[in-house]
Amino acid sequence: MAVAKRTKLPMLTWTGRSVDPFPLPTAFAISGATEATNRVYAADNLAVMASLLAEFPAKIDLIYIDPPFNTGADFALHGNLTGHAYSDRHANGINGYLSLMLPRLQLIHRLLSPVGTLYVHCDYRASSYLRLLLDEIFGPDNLRAQIIWHYQSGGRQKRCWSAKHDVIWMYSKSDKFTFNLEAIGIRRGDIKRNHMKRHLDASGKAVYSIRSNGKTYTYSEDELMTPADVWTDISHLQQKDPERTGYATQKPEKLLERIVLASSNADDLVADFFAGSGTTAAVAHRLGRRFLISDTSPAAIDACTRRLSSLAAPFALYRP
Ligand SMILES: C[S@@+](CC[C@H](N)C(=O)[O-])C[C@H]1O[C@@H](n2cnc3c(N)ncnc32)[C@H](O)[C@@H]1O
Repeated sequence: MAVAKRTKLPMLTWTGRSVDPFPLPTAFAISGATEATNRVYAADNLAVMASLLAEFPAKIDLIYIDPPFNTGADFALHGNLTGHAYSDRHANGINGYLSLMLPRLQLIHRLLSPVGTLYVHCDYRASSYLRLLLDEIFGPDNLRAQIIWHYQSGGRQKRCWSAKHDVIWMYSKSDKFTFNLEAIGIRRGDIKRNHMKRHLDASGKAVYSIRSNGKTYTYSEDELMTPADVWTDISHLQQKDPERTGYATQKPEKLLERIVLASSNADDLVADFFAGSGTTAAVAHRLGRRFLISDTSPAAIDACTRRLSSLAAPFALYRP
């Protein structure tokens, strides 16, 4: 049988793109309680991931990352905290940014379980470039979703459309991946749908049906629907939100909750290598998952450790 030849993908090149395979940094020794699975690494994630390869090859069930967005800005702490959070400036702009992201995405692929899922949070500044890198590493067929997170907060532009959404790329390693509809599904309910007919089935239960291509599809009101890939029901953290840690660009727990519930199971290993204030770890712990997180910013590590301690989450802190 003739096997269809895969079309060669276009490849993104830029000034400074290193020759593959990328030379890995020396893995550092993980001293102390290596048996602890909940870990916070105060270190560059390239070295962290290189060190984890021996212990967790293709073993991480869910990885969410919210890396810098290539804004060209420095981020300060706010609220009760003062000082520097992190810098999102890169030598040679997008070239430097892509040189940061490529080897890290390659390592993430090696750490992710065969049925695991990766979520990459970004916005219009880098989303198209990251999509091409992710297609190259994971294969375009493994792009599972482009989630649009639409929020209302922040100022409005006067001269153009206001940017009010982020993009979250979701990739898996094959078409077998964890997805728990029962944990995040929305009951179909009795909302009127113009294109569907509501009637009672033989047992007297309300159902909706639609005919398409000569087939009739019937849905009960109690059935669960997968949420669509445009999320409009999760707001950004407000100024005085009790969730706020004072760390810049903190994401709401509700957002991570949806991702963790959909793409992991109890006791699974969840990682976030650009941890910031530790939102992923906090949610993972609350939902009974184990976590591995890292960040280079001392302010981020302070925010993470304070947040996890306030939740009484057990964890080991590594400062290699
Ligand atoms: C957008 S913030 C993450 C915010 C986080 N999702 C939250 O809810 O608080 C990005 C983080 O990536 C960290 N970061 C940037 N480069 C890094 C690197 N090479 N290794 C580890 N962390 C890094 C920054 O210090 C910053 O805290």
